[in-house]
Amino acid sequence: RTLRIGLIPGDGIGKEVIPAGRRILESLPASLGLKFSFVDLEAGFETFQKTGVALPDRTVETLQKECDGALFGAVSSPTTPTKGYSSPIVALRKKLDLYANVRPVKSVAGTRAFPDPIDLVIVRENTEDLYVKEERTYEQDGDIVAEAIKRITRSASSRIATMAGEIALRRAKIRAVEKSTSTEQQKQAMVTITHKSNVLSQTDGLFRKTCFDTLAQPRFASANLKVEEQIVDSMLYKLFIQPAYYDVVVGPNLYGDLLSDAAAALVASLGLVPSANVGDGFALGEPCHGSAPDIAGLGISNPIATIRSVGLMLEFLGQGEAAARVYQAVDGCLLEGRLLTPDLGGKAGTEEVVGDVVRRL
Ligand code: NAI
Ligand code: MG
Repeated sequence: RTLRIGLIPGDGIGKEVIPAGRRILESLPASLGLKFSFVDLEAGFETFQKTGVALPDRTVETLQKECDGALFGAVSSPTTPTKGYSSPIVALRKKLDLYANVRPVKSVAGTRAFPDPIDLVIVRENTEDLYVKEERTYEQDGDIVAEAIKRITRSASSRIATMAGEIALRRAKIRAVEKSTSTEQQKQAMVTITHKSNVLSQTDGLFRKTCFDTLAQPRFASANLKVEEQIVDSMLYKLFIQPAYYDVVVGPNLYGDLLSDAAAALVASLGLVPSANVGDGFALGEPCHGSAPDIAGLGISNPIATIRSVGLMLEFLGQGEAAARVYQAVDGCLLEGRLLTPDLGGKAGTEEVVGDVVRRL
């Protein structure tokens, strides 16, 4: 099977880490029976300065018509309001209906910012909640009032709960594959539903109930999936107090946004944390860091966030075994700790780290 992958480096270190991602795909063992073809696509601030648009139509159309998945590096945002510029990644999420944002956070011994082994995933609903951006401002009784709509639907809640449940079961399988080499503890598959339905009984109440109903379906219940809930404020607290406890955490858009950035702070560097934007039949892998202009061009950017994003993309394209190989190779590199980039206290360059992961593959 040949998978066609769109490569969108974007700006800054995006141009260094996306080629690294491509090399990883090209280095997967032949025994997996996977082939890849690539198409280079443009987006970002440089593209905007050159052409007047940050996300060219060709990029969107090629992704829609030709590609199974994509890797997106990072884009720089102008520091002053710039007429006509809007974020390409936000537009891509909409145009490709990438309804889930998935952010795994994993710590490996040697590169830990936190003493306990962390291995969790934040699954964020990506299409609704307060982010429908239906706001208005008006005067009333001499005061000024601003309002925003928080929209939750059963269909979107059910879709994201299903994805969270599937991720939890798949992770349990991948942990089983890795068991021979991993020293980390095995965890039971678990989804934690996070919400604030004690206050927002209708909107978050619908999200909460739909998630519980969805995850009670036989396909999940029979697989021994544990389902818990946690009010979002104490969820944030517990995320920092006992991160090792969590497996998959699912939340509506706003809480998911906050939780996924907070979770990224649990590991030693932004250069380690991947993400994926996922729709039906399409996955876009994206490191969670930005374009890092302070180190762009020096050849020292950490490629691991992107390499892990490659694993995620493969996972969502139904290539669980290939994904497990990628994760294992990254863990091996970090565990040995011989070749680390400066953000992790090492002296290695991007190329050396990629070379090490490729050897392990
Ligand atoms: P940043 O993530 O680019 O950098 C923050 C710090 O982390 C910097 O010191 C950088 O050197 C370091 N860092 C980030 N990734 C690294 C890696 N792979 N290896 C080693 N060190 C790494 O965030 P910052 O500086 O706030 O933003 C820079 C530009 O990136 C801005 O224009 C911003 O708008 C954009 N940005 C884009 C994002 C995206 O495309 N998804 C996300 C965040 C920021
Ligand atoms: Mg955010």
